[in-house]
Amino acid sequence: MSSADLDQTAKSILIENDQGGYTVPTKGLYPYQWNWDSVFVALGFATFDQDRAWREIEMLFEGQWRDGMVPHILFRKDDPSYFPGPSVWGTDGGPIPSSGHSQPPVAATVISDLVDSDTSGKALGRAAALFPSLMNWHRWFLAYRDPEAKGAMSVIHPWESGRDNLPDWDDALRAVVVKDIGPYERKDTSHVDPAMRPHKEDYDRYLSIMAACRNVGWDPAEVARTCPFFVADPGVTFIFLRASRDLLTLAEKLGKDAEADEIKGWINRMETGVKSLWHDGLKAHVALDRRSGKHTDGISSMSFLAPYAGIADQETLESLQGHFDRIAEKVRYLMPSYDPEHTSYEPLRYWRGPVWAMVNYMIARGFAEVGDSARAERLRNDTASLVEASGFAEYFSPETAAGAGGGTFSWTAAIWLTWASPTHVEQAA
Ligand code: DGY
Repeated sequence: MSSADLDQTAKSILIENDQGGYTVPTKGLYPYQWNWDSVFVALGFATFDQDRAWREIEMLFEGQWRDGMVPHILFRKDDPSYFPGPSVWGTDGGPIPSSGHSQPPVAATVISDLVDSDTSGKALGRAAALFPSLMNWHRWFLAYRDPEAKGAMSVIHPWESGRDNLPDWDDALRAVVVKDIGPYERKDTSHVDPAMRPHKEDYDRYLSIMAACRNVGWDPAEVARTCPFFVADPGVTFIFLRASRDLLTLAEKLGKDAEADEIKGWINRMETGVKSLWHDGLKAHVALDRRSGKHTDGISSMSFLAPYAGIADQETLESLQGHFDRIAEKVRYLMPSYDPEHTSYEPLRYWRGPVWAMVNYMIARGFAEVGDSARAERLRNDTASLVEASGFAEYFSPETAAGAGGGTFSWTAAIWLTWASPTHVEQAA
């Protein structure tokens, strides 16, 4: 298929997955509005319909909880093709039935991008309307995912990281006692080859964590204090830090001086705290289990987001470039979600090895911003090759380019349109 045909297919996927203002990641497997999926999807819509891009994010924030949290799933209607649905979550924190935790907060960054690329003259007004909600969401992260002000964001569930079965969670997840879950029937493995999905023992614990949080009524302070899973994640930490920098730019554009000062304080706290995720042996930022005090022992694709977050001191940058080149010799397509030299690497199992387009986009953006255009371009070319080989799959084998997981996937289409498509690159030149 030519690039122009792929551009057209990508647009059609977004339009087909549109449910009237919000977009499902893919029909069947993920039939609701997912938080960071929607935000990346807005970038795709913005390439041909800016109003619709804003609507995607505005509808996501319609589900914001009273305490500031923006949930990872909004269940606008019940759909039996997905498990676990609203009745299993048992939440009551916001205006729309939802899951009980959040997802990586990319929204401030994308909103800032939408303002920069605006041609309608309306973007700053729409950003201003969302600004208080963004502030409250970031404050919620600081209060309940970094309650001791250590300067690194934790996740209370692997799903909150957006990277469900990443090897980083294995030890912390095994420590979760399986209880209060009863019999259940998974739906994901009826849509997708089970070899590409998490195992049953993972799901038992995913549900046990949900039960523990349900037992404290999803009270955010109690969840932070008692949740059996509480792991500081370089992915959410870097994305939060980047988003806070973009929120600061927005605050300055809007003349919000008090908020700008507040955000500067967050940035200082995170810049200092992120050092606690640095692993001296691996020379990279890795996850840190706050309950056991142990660092994980592997490099994930999110370790490469340090430059995206503005952490680009010489040691960090050079060691990431070294890891990048080492990994590039092991697999054909970058960036695998986990180090292919680690024993837990699996090229087709969800977050244990496959390449994800939106992660490549963020890594490349950070590398480009620090002047490493060669590695940024390598990521863009690899992403384009994967889509050219296997279409708009959820994720791809870093070894064979085989597409895996769900098909006609919204954020893969969006990232194609906004960044990976050769047409986009020609227009930007
Ligand atoms: C799932 O159901 O697989 C999702 O990743 C949870 O967010």
